[in-house]
Amino acid sequence: MRAQVAIIGAGPSGLLLGQLLHRAGIDAIILERKSGEYVLGRIRAGVLEQGAVDLLDEAGVGKRLHAEGLVHGGIELCFDGKRHRIDMAGLTGGKHVTVYGQTEVTRDLMDARAAAGAKTVYEAEDVSIHGFDTTSPVVRYRKDGATHEIACDFIAGCDGFHGVCRESLPAGAVKHFERVYPFGWLGILADVPPVSHELIYVNHPRGFALCSMRSRTRSRYYVQVPLDEKVEDWSDDRFWDELKRRLDTQAAATIVTGPSIEKSIAPLRSFVAEPMRFGRLMLAGDAAHIVPPTGAKGLNLAASDVRYLSRALIDHYRTGSMTEIDAYSDKCLRRVWKAVRFSWWMTSMMHRFPDTGEFGQKIQETELDYLVGSKAASTSLAENYVGLPFED
Ligand code: APR
Ligand code: PHB
Repeated sequence: MRAQVAIIGAGPSGLLLGQLLHRAGIDAIILERKSGEYVLGRIRAGVLEQGAVDLLDEAGVGKRLHAEGLVHGGIELCFDGKRHRIDMAGLTGGKHVTVYGQTEVTRDLMDARAAAGAKTVYEAEDVSIHGFDTTSPVVRYRKDGATHEIACDFIAGCDGFHGVCRESLPAGAVKHFERVYPFGWLGILADVPPVSHELIYVNHPRGFALCSMRSRTRSRYYVQVPLDEKVEDWSDDRFWDELKRRLDTQAAATIVTGPSIEKSIAPLRSFVAEPMRFGRLMLAGDAAHIVPPTGAKGLNLAASDVRYLSRALIDHYRTGSMTEIDAYSDKCLRRVWKAVRFSWWMTSMMHRFPDTGEFGQKIQETELDYLVGSKAASTSLAENYVGLPFED
């Protein structure tokens, strides 16, 4: 088998790249370890920067997103028992974010790929990548007991944090930067109307909480928990009680509770692999970097990598030049590190850390008080939250 580009992983990065390449007439095959249903079953974040929305439009999959997505011009920060609104649109010259679940983005991309007749191999086992330091890389996988081989020009490693691509790099070719946080987020999804029409990020001495949503009738709520906490120990009642204790009085009194339809604990990590390109292998999305969810940047960074990568590949196939491919890693990493910094900062300001005590709590509350009272500081938060500009 032959393809111009072999994409490993059918998460949002791989699917979006596949769609943008397909529209540019570049033939790409996607290999995914899991089934399509499994990929759709993963509940992830749901806040899209304008740049991500524009890219989904460019990929031709923006219709449902525009019909069903909720456009938000602000967020609320709650600390010391009171809520304060950050007017993101007002502070950024009218920029917004769109609340639309990653599951829906993935579904739209899968549907578009199926409609285009482009090939995705689900349940591809033992994917391995070879010769990416030459001009003729090869990808091998097993499916239904048979071994298959794809000869290609480039390999796009869109296979997430636990994927095979980054792991295949020779020792010493890649440097890892990592920070693991001493807590996780326990999240639930429930078919209840959101407590507020905008997201509420809560700093509380008992720990962080977040009120988010997927639609006007479906809410997504989180509470910070210690890393050794087990999801089985959290009944719905226990979750709602803990969430209410962290909210302001009005939100706690009006929140609508109900049975959870999903409940899970996610650890928080900051991670960057440098460089993001090795010969003809380019990493994109979670394969190259992880951010804690506090700034809602994971999916948006995946989209920005894919934007740079699709443009670089399209330029290469039009002109034969490697200039944009050569620039890919540095260009991505400049934006990646800014989002890593922002997510780390939001995480540090909003969570209870085991070792900082009451002094840490006071410093956080003071930082938040400064933030909501200073136009300069609020603008810095707002411009990062709605998404920093791209380089091109
Ligand atoms: N072979 C084939 N596919 C693989 C392999 C492998 N060896 N390893 C992993 N995969 C697949 C996974 O099953 C998954 O479907 O790669 C896909 C990677 O998808 P994601 O983890 O969703 O990563 P990405 O597409 O970069 O999306 C980033 O996801 O985790 C969130 O916060 C993150 O929202 C961001 C988005
Ligand atoms: C979510 O809706 O899942 C969500 C929203 C904002 C975040 C993180 C997660 O910062």
